[in-house]
Amino acid sequence: LTVQVNKPGAAVNKNMYGLFFEDINFAADGGLYPELVKNKSFETDARLMGWRALGGGANLDTYAVRNEQGINNQNNSHYLRLTTRNGAGGEAGIENEGFRGMGVKQGSEYKLSFYARRGAGDVGGLTATIVGQRGETLGQVAVSGFTNEWKQYTAVLKSTGTQNKAHLKLVLSGTGTVDLDVVSLFPKDTWNQRPNGLRTDLVQLLKDMKPGFLRFPGGCIVEGRTLSERYQWKETIGDVTARLPMINRWNMEFRHRSTPDYYQSFGLGFFEYFQLSEDIGAEPLPILNVGMACQYNSGELAPMGTASTKGGPNAGETAPHNHATDDPSLDMFIQDALDLIEFANGPVSSTWGAKRAAMGHPAPFNLKMIGVGNEQWGPQYLERYVPFAKAVKAKYPNIDLVSSAGPSPDGELFDTASKRLGELKADYIDEHYYAKADWFRAHADRYDKYARGGPKIFAGEYAAQSVNTGSPENKNTWDCAISEAAFMTGLERNADVVGMASYAPLFANVDAWQWTPDLIWFDNLNSYGSPSYYVQKLYALNKGTKVLPVTMPGGAKNGTDNLFASAVTDEPTGEVVVKLVNYSTSPRPVSINLAGAKGLGKTGRAQTMASDDLQTQNSLKEPKKLAPQESTFAMKGSTLSYTLAPNSFTVLRVPAK
Ligand code: AHR
Repeated sequence: LTVQVNKPGAAVNKNMYGLFFEDINFAADGGLYPELVKNKSFETDARLMGWRALGGGANLDTYAVRNEQGINNQNNSHYLRLTTRNGAGGEAGIENEGFRGMGVKQGSEYKLSFYARRGAGDVGGLTATIVGQRGETLGQVAVSGFTNEWKQYTAVLKSTGTQNKAHLKLVLSGTGTVDLDVVSLFPKDTWNQRPNGLRTDLVQLLKDMKPGFLRFPGGCIVEGRTLSERYQWKETIGDVTARLPMINRWNMEFRHRSTPDYYQSFGLGFFEYFQLSEDIGAEPLPILNVGMACQYNSGELAPMGTASTKGGPNAGETAPHNHATDDPSLDMFIQDALDLIEFANGPVSSTWGAKRAAMGHPAPFNLKMIGVGNEQWGPQYLERYVPFAKAVKAKYPNIDLVSSAGPSPDGELFDTASKRLGELKADYIDEHYYAKADWFRAHADRYDKYARGGPKIFAGEYAAQSVNTGSPENKNTWDCAISEAAFMTGLERNADVVGMASYAPLFANVDAWQWTPDLIWFDNLNSYGSPSYYVQKLYALNKGTKVLPVTMPGGAKNGTDNLFASAVTDEPTGEVVVKLVNYSTSPRPVSINLAGAKGLGKTGRAQTMASDDLQTQNSLKEPKKLAPQESTFAMKGSTLSYTLAPNSFTVLRVPAK
């Protein structure tokens, strides 16, 4: 191979290799958002989802959800009423199952909080217990002082054991009636020790990737199966207790339970997404609904203009509204986008900037781009995209717009809508491809012939499928990951048009997933990166600053004989970085002529992922079975001689002038 060190080409976008976050596979509640209590406010459609009366309710006369004089009538009207049964002998109270159990760690502290109001009788308090799988007590605290007014009570429980599937039990002290609401058990140890913070091991895995951007909140949940189930960012900010939960779009695809139990609590809402982006050094990339529900489902469309009569939140209005009665028009979606930019970037004196400041972040989040629709296409998309884009660009000309494209990995680069988006001078087109592993190797040249001068590409969702897209049998094998690595040589080589890329989906709970494969897997305590995670990480940590031309042996096409390569220069470190994929069962010696280099270091550094078995996977038991291994190698003159391991992805770094 020859790498033209003296002919640096296109600059690598500093946002390259980012993250796609969607609340699928329990990625938010039961995952990144570490609230341990499920359905803490009794606001889900099945009001008692996640709760159970102790002893089958034998010691309670009343175990019912009511909504008169709740703690917050508009957004959190429901609460639980309990009345003890006269003469009953056993414990009267309730327990919460958590998200497939609750993960607690020995010595760690958990903040219990709840609202209580005493009714007739003498229920003066309750005892909260973290209960282990064998019924043992892992932590206990008594709370007292209930009055006949709603009041919040807090206490801290310290766990004496480490368990993945504990649960919370609340036993009433005394007899009579008590009302309870917003029952929360939240780990004190969160990312940056924030009270409503995120799970530390999962944020660490994200941060370790040095992601260029964070795309949120999806994915299909942006659209919803119907418009009333779309994601509405204004309902996800402000007081956490006033965020109204909504059935998760992925609940229907749930493979482990027959009754609905997957909601979005929105405890992880837009403010928290912006804060997470800042914490991990990623540019925020919110994807907004453009007035269209998922075209695979209802395909419901918002009428053009201002046709809405029932209304939703207008500019300056904070109150969330009932998801089901909403009847939005396109102008509302446009207004939501304009308000979001003000929420992220506006001065504290502005309506929405003030709300950001009130949540503890007076400084702007410096939002630079938004996505207009997720995975949408056709004339209805264009009809809505045009006024949407016009309004946003008129007010915020410096905000880049990421336009949507229909998923069609095997079709032409663009559908009709995308061609028109080019004419409309869209900044980015968001392409998605979920396809079998061999498709990724066969399409490493996908962007070599892409027209220059038009919209850039955001490869916004991609993942090699070991079986078939949508198959629950898909696994995160090395075959998938190495094929993605091969494909990504083409993303890197075409840095002049490919500006951003992200694998999807990001997270999956091992006990509660709907989609495979996924980048990072976790249970209630532990997590691990798949081989694809380490491929993404190697690209992100070695993305360099400018592309260097690579000529393959004998002038062959990249990918011939299952050898794939790309190269960049990394100006701050003064190194040449070469990425090589050997998709073959034999070791492959390569000689790389670093042409035009004025001086080369004597020692280079290699990071290698390799496995003889293409079916290798990582797991909770073997989290790093396949992860990059570091080594050094000696340079001889201007030729780099290296033997690539069978089935390997290798990143070579050589100091070069
Ligand atoms: O990543 C899973 C889903 O795949 C996303 O929600 C959607 O955009 C795509 O169809």
